[in-house]
Amino acid sequence: MGLKPFLTQIGRWQLATGIGSGRSIVPNAPLWSGSQAVWLSFVVLAIASMTVQPSELEAQLDAIRQEAQQALAAATTMEQLEQLRVKYLGKKGPIPQVLGGMGKLEPSDRPRIGAKANEIKAAIETELEHQKTTLQTAQLQAQLEAETLDVTMPGVYHQQGRVHPLNSIIDRVLDIFVGLGYTVAEGPEMETDYYNFEALNFLPDHPARDMQDTLYLPDGNILRTHTSSVQIRYMEANEPPVRIVIPGRCYRRDTVDATHTAVFHQIEFLAIDEGLTFTDMKGTLRIFLEQLFGEVPLRMRPSFFPFTEPSAEVDLQWQGRWLEIMGCGMVDPNVLKAVGYDPEVYTGFAGGFGVERLAAVLYQIDDIRRLYTSDRRFLAQF
Ligand code: DAH
Repeated sequence: MGLKPFLTQIGRWQLATGIGSGRSIVPNAPLWSGSQAVWLSFVVLAIASMTVQPSELEAQLDAIRQEAQQALAAATTMEQLEQLRVKYLGKKGPIPQVLGGMGKLEPSDRPRIGAKANEIKAAIETELEHQKTTLQTAQLQAQLEAETLDVTMPGVYHQQGRVHPLNSIIDRVLDIFVGLGYTVAEGPEMETDYYNFEALNFLPDHPARDMQDTLYLPDGNILRTHTSSVQIRYMEANEPPVRIVIPGRCYRRDTVDATHTAVFHQIEFLAIDEGLTFTDMKGTLRIFLEQLFGEVPLRMRPSFFPFTEPSAEVDLQWQGRWLEIMGCGMVDPNVLKAVGYDPEVYTGFAGGFGVERLAAVLYQIDDIRRLYTSDRRFLAQF
């Protein structure tokens, strides 16, 4: 707006409001009332504000820069920084406001002021980034200090449980047999006389029963004396060929001593097929014992079991003497007949060993009763 239209504008406004006593305002009028003087100074100011000096804008920009830098340097949080960014660099910030005044500059001054404004904007941005990095570093440093680990400090010790040696031996034995192609089978601990004795070719009054005398339940059932009973149950339900390994708990009315307990564990193995021989059994036993014990002295001697013919027992060295750990043999034809297998077609071998005795040999434990004392100092060794 040029000066003349501006004055005209003021004159109109005076007439409308009555301010200035109805006299027209002309700069060179000879006599001015008091109120006219007030108006004149207003106008002079108004005119002055229209002709902004470039140095004034430069000063304003410098002031903005200084103020922003101080505020940024004093900021202590990321939130404060963000607020300052909006305040100084946002659309409604002071720089666009100053630039708004550029219209009143001589055109030749404008590029310089524009460049300065950009420079100051960039300076504030740099300062902002710098302060951001400083705060982030400080934050990280504080976090690192708070999370410092003293690697020399003794740890909090949590005692770990472990598998009982009897269970770990059972697991190892099953693994070996599964590796030889056997399947794990299980059966009940409470048995009938038929599965525990009769089907295994024990005659009703045979003295072999005495060696395995056990606990009879009121209904005539018994607690099984060996895992051999599961051989019968499995063969009744499955056709040959058979390769099974049977872990389980057994019971006998034995006098407890260093090598006997009334409740103990056995693992049974059974293989039935066409053409299996005693040599196959020896080879299987050799592989199994080598995998479990490595090279150890072992003794095989003839024995008797009603359910195998011929039968043998296997002894290992323990406490300077031979300890019987296993009974085995070729499955008696009567047992095959009892489960409906044709003994003319099928042969097989079977064996059963005591897990407690294996543990005694493997760990050279002097008394198998230690396995049941629940003494952690003892059990923690295995
Ligand atoms: N059942 C026998 C026992 O407890 C061990 C045994 C011997 C198992 C010969 C067998 C076997 O499978 O064929 O003394």
